[in-house]
Amino acid sequence: MTNLKILVVGQGGREHALVKALKESPSVPQVHCAPGSSGMAKEALCHPDKVENKQICELSKNLNIDLVVIGPEAYLAKGLADELRQAGIDVFGPNQTAAQLEASKIFAKKFMVKAGVPTAPYVEVRSVEQVESSAHQFTPPYVLKADGLAAGKGVFICHTKEELLASARKIFLDKILGSAGQIALLEQFQPGWELSYLILTNGVEYNTLPLAQDHKRLNENDQGPNTGGMGAVAPLQIPPVLDEEIKTKILGPIVTQLKSLGIVYRGILYVGIMVTDKGPSVLEFNVRFGDPEAQVLLPLLDGDWSTVMKKVAQGELPEVKWKPLQVACVVLAAPKYPEQPQKNVPIEGDITYQTASSYFLHAGTAKLPSGHWVTNGGRVLNAVGIGNTRQEALVNAYAQAKRVSWPHQQIRMDIGKKS
Ligand code: GLY
Repeated sequence: MTNLKILVVGQGGREHALVKALKESPSVPQVHCAPGSSGMAKEALCHPDKVENKQICELSKNLNIDLVVIGPEAYLAKGLADELRQAGIDVFGPNQTAAQLEASKIFAKKFMVKAGVPTAPYVEVRSVEQVESSAHQFTPPYVLKADGLAAGKGVFICHTKEELLASARKIFLDKILGSAGQIALLEQFQPGWELSYLILTNGVEYNTLPLAQDHKRLNENDQGPNTGGMGAVAPLQIPPVLDEEIKTKILGPIVTQLKSLGIVYRGILYVGIMVTDKGPSVLEFNVRFGDPEAQVLLPLLDGDWSTVMKKVAQGELPEVKWKPLQVACVVLAAPKYPEQPQKNVPIEGDITYQTASSYFLHAGTAKLPSGHWVTNGGRVLNAVGIGNTRQEALVNAYAQAKRVSWPHQQIRMDIGKKS
């Protein structure tokens, strides 16, 4: 494929990683990004005023875009992929029905039950009273999950019934999650260790990506509040027997179920798995690359992402090979992230610094007219390091991270230590 015109939709660290990976392709003379960010301007032509589905469709038609790659789940849930396909444009990303796998936890649970995929037992709840009368079906800790998209804030792990009822009141009476919390799931907590399997699928067959590990808690040793992800490493090794079990009991049945329901799925499906003492069990689906998993997975392809994504968008499933490298991503976060991330904090140091094996991706930065950079979101910068070993990748990522600083910057120094 030659001279592919690609549009990436989104503006965070994951989208910067997508832009960078696609820009490296010899077949891609120009990557566009909507809305994009100032931090991507070196690699992509950004369209900051194009944020609505209609505007993105018009832009794609006006620019004769050959492939749209959609990063964030909100666009997929709003049916952007469907609108673009109706306009005859190839899209890497699932349609609105398939996006329900992430946008509705209840849809996802019903899908898993039908597919025979292991997942925790649950009940649907719509009020504090229903939570109270259903709690006896479970043993603490309890998990209460908002049905809708809640930007990572919709899951409550409650160690006592009092905590459970307090969380239920926040969801149903205080309505802290708005319409995302109209319905919730009460489910059994499953102890174990978590891993994320991402598959590349055309809805009929799949190929796996290398395994990645995110670090969701804000502080070292997995303490503190949940975040969007404070860092990631890839690839991980797991015992071949477990790998085979996941493929047989989870990944295969999921794709078979997509096919039998006639769900057109062309893109990445992220399967969050808890490995329990009874075997692997699915926690959740995301219908796109994880953030920061994308940052550590995209550099591992031994090939050309633009060709792979274009083929998947056209319903094919190309072979994929992976480089024998390790990648680490360390997130540099703003003061008071995740509760109230502070914007406009000046970033000191050399934000443009990069080497053959390390670089920054911009997740939440802004460039002032004076040319100075400031924080503009919770996760501000991603320091990415590549190496032949995990240790080398981490040394490179942390050396990169040290190139910038700001007051009360938040960073975990233990990324990649537990795997
Ligand atoms: N890293 C998890 C997510 O992207 O939701």
